[in-house]
Amino acid sequence: MDRKLIIEQYKRFSESCLWRMQRDYFDKAGIDAWVNQVPFYITSNPYIANFYAEISINFISDWISKHPEAKNHPFYILELGTGSGRFSYYVLKRIHELKTALGMTDISICYVMSDFTKNNIRYYESHSALKFFIEQGFVDFALFDMEVEKPITLIHSNVVLSPETLVNPLITFANYIFDTVSHDAFSVKQGKLYELLLSVSTPESNLENNKPVDMSQLSIDFKTNEIKKSYYNDPDLDNILEQYRNSLSDSNFLFPIGSIRAIKLLKKLSNNKLMILSSDKGYSTLQSLDRLGYPSISFHGSFSMMVNFHAIANYFKNSGGDYFLQTPRKGIKTSLFLSNTQLDNLTLTKLAVEKYIEGVSAADYFTLHRRVSDSFNELNLETIAAHLNFTGWDPHIYLKLANRITKLVEVSDLDTINFLASNMHKLAKNYYYMPKSDCILFEIAVFFHAIKRFDDALNYYLEAQEFVGEQFGVHYNLALCQHNLGNTVDALDNFKIALRIDPNSKEAQEWITYIEKSKE
Ligand SMILES: C[S@@+](CC[C@H](N)C(=O)[O-])C[C@H]1O[C@@H](n2cnc3c(N)ncnc32)[C@H](O)[C@@H]1O
Repeated sequence: MDRKLIIEQYKRFSESCLWRMQRDYFDKAGIDAWVNQVPFYITSNPYIANFYAEISINFISDWISKHPEAKNHPFYILELGTGSGRFSYYVLKRIHELKTALGMTDISICYVMSDFTKNNIRYYESHSALKFFIEQGFVDFALFDMEVEKPITLIHSNVVLSPETLVNPLITFANYIFDTVSHDAFSVKQGKLYELLLSVSTPESNLENNKPVDMSQLSIDFKTNEIKKSYYNDPDLDNILEQYRNSLSDSNFLFPIGSIRAIKLLKKLSNNKLMILSSDKGYSTLQSLDRLGYPSISFHGSFSMMVNFHAIANYFKNSGGDYFLQTPRKGIKTSLFLSNTQLDNLTLTKLAVEKYIEGVSAADYFTLHRRVSDSFNELNLETIAAHLNFTGWDPHIYLKLANRITKLVEVSDLDTINFLASNMHKLAKNYYYMPKSDCILFEIAVFFHAIKRFDDALNYYLEAQEFVGEQFGVHYNLALCQHNLGNTVDALDNFKIALRIDPNSKEAQEWITYIEKSKE
């Protein structure tokens, strides 16, 4: 029988070995964490990135109109736990567009993609989509472990983020990261506050060199321990716990201690001028924190917890800051936090927040998108085109629909086909390469091929080659386009390469015979 072994017994949650395992997982997996394991679409699409960009640009404009000298210093935007970098790419693109459109090219903005693992930083540094922004000095990188208080040094410029270098407020993005770093857990029963201590166990078969292999096979048990004096020795934090003791009737809740410590550090570095935008799963009202069972941990390659946004909001409010928590809806929550200033003083920021956090937010976008994607096979091309426009021409969505679009092209109206065709370059611009994923450039080529725009198809097949490598489909389709464009010499070459890649291809062989014969 597979014995269950206890790995650790009754520890404070933030000191549990689980957090080390979490970091080991991300460090080892690097970019592969996002290949069918850690969910990330909801925080890595053009829709969410575009509104983060708009809120940030509005915030910068508000700040400059109140502090004109701010123009003379860079604005830093720090992304925490960046992950795949796809979100960053879309934000960079949008901020760049907005700066130009709004005549803000003299404002210096430096976007810092940070993560605790070098493996991720290396991936961003060599990514072709980021090359332009790196050359412009618009993006930099930093190794930043939110659980460790250490200087944050930008890898390319060597600037150290500090009260001296951060003259303007530090804008910070934190998506799916507050749910990933350490938490403490508590319980309130009949007006008494308890800490929840954790035991972790796993079947013996899940151990290799005494370490668990698969985190989803871990079991967690809790034990309560009454808290009689101050828990954190920090009035800012202990007051929040006290509020929960007084107001929750009977519940268990999490306290995002790792995130709050990182926020404290960022407040210090930025002279208490911090703005945070965060999207994560979590709780934002006191009511939603009441009557909860023991915290549940969801395992998906890594693991994640529900973020107590309510506690983070109180942490800001209690120290003279402000926050905006959207009216709760199912799904991911987007929140804004400000230190030492009030949202009411930031007119443009407030408008953007109303539009994108209270209005159609990341959660609403995802709900609508999911409903539409459930019915992809019933949609006509007109609806598909409208949906693609709504997504901001998202390659991830197009790739799910590519086969259907190619089929529908034959039976659809010209207006819709032209609408799609004239926006294909936007899809192409949104391409952010990830390993083991399909290539949008190839699919765009197939679209143009299907509507017989062979020149466009040819160009996209050629562009796709850089990402898909030597593939039968690329050479065969290139050859078809070249043949249609009257370039039989190159067509013959490509049919021959295609045949070399797949010697069993009858079609390629027939084409070669046909072209060679017609040359005789
Ligand atoms: C769940 S992923 C989220 C990635 C991305 N923000 C997104 O929305 O898809 C968590 C990311 O945080 C990084 N990470 C984990 N622990 C961290 C820590 N202590 N400090 C900084 N980054 C951390 C991981 O390497 C990973 O890239």
